[in-house]
Amino acid sequence: MTDEAGTVDLTRPSAARVYDYYLGGAHNFAVDREMAERAIGMWPDLPLIMQANRAFLRRAVRFCADAGVRQFLDLGSGIPTVGNVHEIAQDAAPGARVVYVDNDPIATAYSENILRGNQDTAALQADLRKPEQVLDSPQVRKLLNFDEPIAVMMVAVLHFVPDNDDPAAVIARYREAMAPGSFLVLSHASQDGQPGQADSHQNLYNRTATPMTMRSKSQVAELLTGFDLVEPGVVFLPQWRPVAPEDVDEHPERFSGLAAVGRRS
Ligand SMILES: C[S@@+](CC[C@H](N)C(=O)[O-])C[C@H]1O[C@@H](n2cnc3c(N)ncnc32)[C@H](O)[C@@H]1O
Repeated sequence: MTDEAGTVDLTRPSAARVYDYYLGGAHNFAVDREMAERAIGMWPDLPLIMQANRAFLRRAVRFCADAGVRQFLDLGSGIPTVGNVHEIAQDAAPGARVVYVDNDPIATAYSENILRGNQDTAALQADLRKPEQVLDSPQVRKLLNFDEPIAVMMVAVLHFVPDNDDPAAVIARYREAMAPGSFLVLSHASQDGQPGQADSHQNLYNRTATPMTMRSKSQVAELLTGFDLVEPGVVFLPQWRPVAPEDVDEHPERFSGLAAVGRRS
């Protein structure tokens, strides 16, 4: 966790570093590992759910690239891990431009590090709840053209935006800036799949500096107001356009998180 000035606080777990630990990364500290282990102790499926989330992100980036999108704004991008947005996007479409945004200075520092030398990418430390700061930043202005279709990604981040911060209004501000043919890529923690586990998980996070607001399928669908839902709509993570039918677990609700992509018409 960080203060307003972006100083790293090693006494409290950070959502970015705890997530890195779930994914098997090395960019985390004892305080993060302790929190992650407690969470996994209560909900052993957590690492699997996080992997399913990353797999959804990769499928969604490929989907947007196949639809002709050549620029990506990844909000709440996290600490770089295998299969980052620019790797998938630039593999599908060389020259695709990507700006990574996270409010965690460690996530931004590692992103800057791996992006060095890649002229079509940039990292920005900013709060997605302040759309003007993101949209007016030099990184976004230099690389992204909002007159052309863009993919705005909010993957596994909106559950860190409480109702008091009006996530729908935040999304609306980005939507207004997006050209027709743009996409909003979204995944979100939810109680829908495993209510008991999810409640204890949310309670654990709510005792930390990064409280969590899980949302139901209908609440997530509401966040996509103003976008046309791409098939198959709001579904559990593995159910969103799987590469092969056998990739979907017999019990997709086990993965709990919800995934959706909306198109700006
Ligand atoms: C669970 S990680 C998700 C990372 C990546 N999007 C993914 O799905 O693999 C959530 C990330 O959102 C970031 N985050 C939380 N609230 C944010 C905010 N208000 N503005 C920007 N980033 C935020 C955290 O620092 C963390 O890196």
